[in-house]
Amino acid sequence: MKTIIEPFRIKVVEPIRMTTRAERERILREAGYNVFLIRADDVLIDLLTDSGTGAMSSLQWSGMMRGDESYAGAKSWHTFRDQVHELTGFEHILPTHQGRASERILFELVGGPGKVVPNNNHFDTTRANIEHTGAKAVDLVIEEGKRPASRHPFKGNIDLQKLENLIEEVGGGTGVSPVEHIPLVMVTVTNNSGGGQPVSLENLRAVRKLCDKYGLPFFLDACRFAENAYFIKLREPGQQDRSAREIVREMFELVDGATISAKKDGLVNIGGVLLLRDDALARRADELLILTEGFVTYGGLAGRDLEAMAQGFKEVVHEDYLHYRIRSTEYLGEKLMAAGVQIVEPPGGHAIYIDAKHFCAHIPQHQFPGQALVCGLYRHAGIRAVEIGSVMFGQGGNVPAMELVRLAIPRRVYTQSHLDYVVEATTEVFEQRDQLRGLEIVSEPAALRHFTAKFREL
Ligand code: F0G
Repeated sequence: MKTIIEPFRIKVVEPIRMTTRAERERILREAGYNVFLIRADDVLIDLLTDSGTGAMSSLQWSGMMRGDESYAGAKSWHTFRDQVHELTGFEHILPTHQGRASERILFELVGGPGKVVPNNNHFDTTRANIEHTGAKAVDLVIEEGKRPASRHPFKGNIDLQKLENLIEEVGGGTGVSPVEHIPLVMVTVTNNSGGGQPVSLENLRAVRKLCDKYGLPFFLDACRFAENAYFIKLREPGQQDRSAREIVREMFELVDGATISAKKDGLVNIGGVLLLRDDALARRADELLILTEGFVTYGGLAGRDLEAMAQGFKEVVHEDYLHYRIRSTEYLGEKLMAAGVQIVEPPGGHAIYIDAKHFCAHIPQHQFPGQALVCGLYRHAGIRAVEIGSVMFGQGGNVPAMELVRLAIPRRVYTQSHLDYVVEATTEVFEQRDQLRGLEIVSEPAALRHFTAKFREL
């Protein structure tokens, strides 16, 4: 059979509501042309993020009822711990309320002024948590990863030569161990900021070798570990006969720790994990966890959240799920490309990234072509996407290399006909793209302006 179906049937439905074009025009105006400031009720198809927006399974919901809310040593903690241990092999497993809490604890312990943390591409909260300690975050993705039209199968790979050069530059010749300057090397799977692109096992193994050579710890930002593993199975020579679960296990066995937002491949609405190999570091992390998140057996979550996460981590490596997940994102990407829309190729795991410079060639970069497209999609069809370009990264005069609009696909939420609707709407906006108008900012906060800035149409 060629047809790939959603590998679930629907037991609970949540109505979504169409608005009129006149309503959306008013809503956009009142929100200052910033879709973060729109009520979710007024959105028809919400592709703002794949984080925490997925649908839970019947087993996850029944786990919610089994949640043990004991403060210490709850049954739900043991269920969660055993599941994460089985999946990753890690002994030190810290539950947190979401990915950035894991990042905050980790970098409070290993960051600090004068330190440098390399990554393929840091996600913005990772970068912010590193910089908050006074350390520097450096992006070293391969060159192909920066070119939207390049079809390299693993565009998320870190550039090994650049990584070694950085280690030599920062740590070499000073007489002190490089780890004094580079507390760890991180790789983000999949590479969200670089288009949801995967990292190959070969690349991860090579980073491990390099880290061993210089005595450096190696960490994953493992938010989308299962999607990455499935890409490895599909694309990496020699990996076809392994299960996604085996590949996931190898990915985790290669590293000394990982930060995870379970709101992605944990298939939950809230939750995170910090994995650590080093006993001493884990003891210090436990202390920080208790300080701001909660006791080590719940980490700021309810027992029911731990149950849902445990079950989510089990379901996410099912290959019928991963096949549907990767294929449905690819389906959206293929249809958009066929309509002439330039996207970051090949399609990523959790999202399609439209090249807004190409889409809105008539709008100069300083007039926010990505934001113009985001407004166009909402105005035309009630679709909410997110700008990843000059609005998000252009504060302080920075000019980002790419102007992208991300259509992130929530897990197990929308059906193929919803995606067909997105294709049709985007194609219609593309055919009338000359009508999209540039914007100027009328107010913005001091940092992270994309969340609250207000705009005016030109
Ligand atoms: N790392 C990556 C690669 C992420 O994509 C995210 C979140 C985080 C860390 C932080 O996790 O939100 O649980 O604190 N990404 C979301 C997104 C917000 O829309 O891409 P968190």
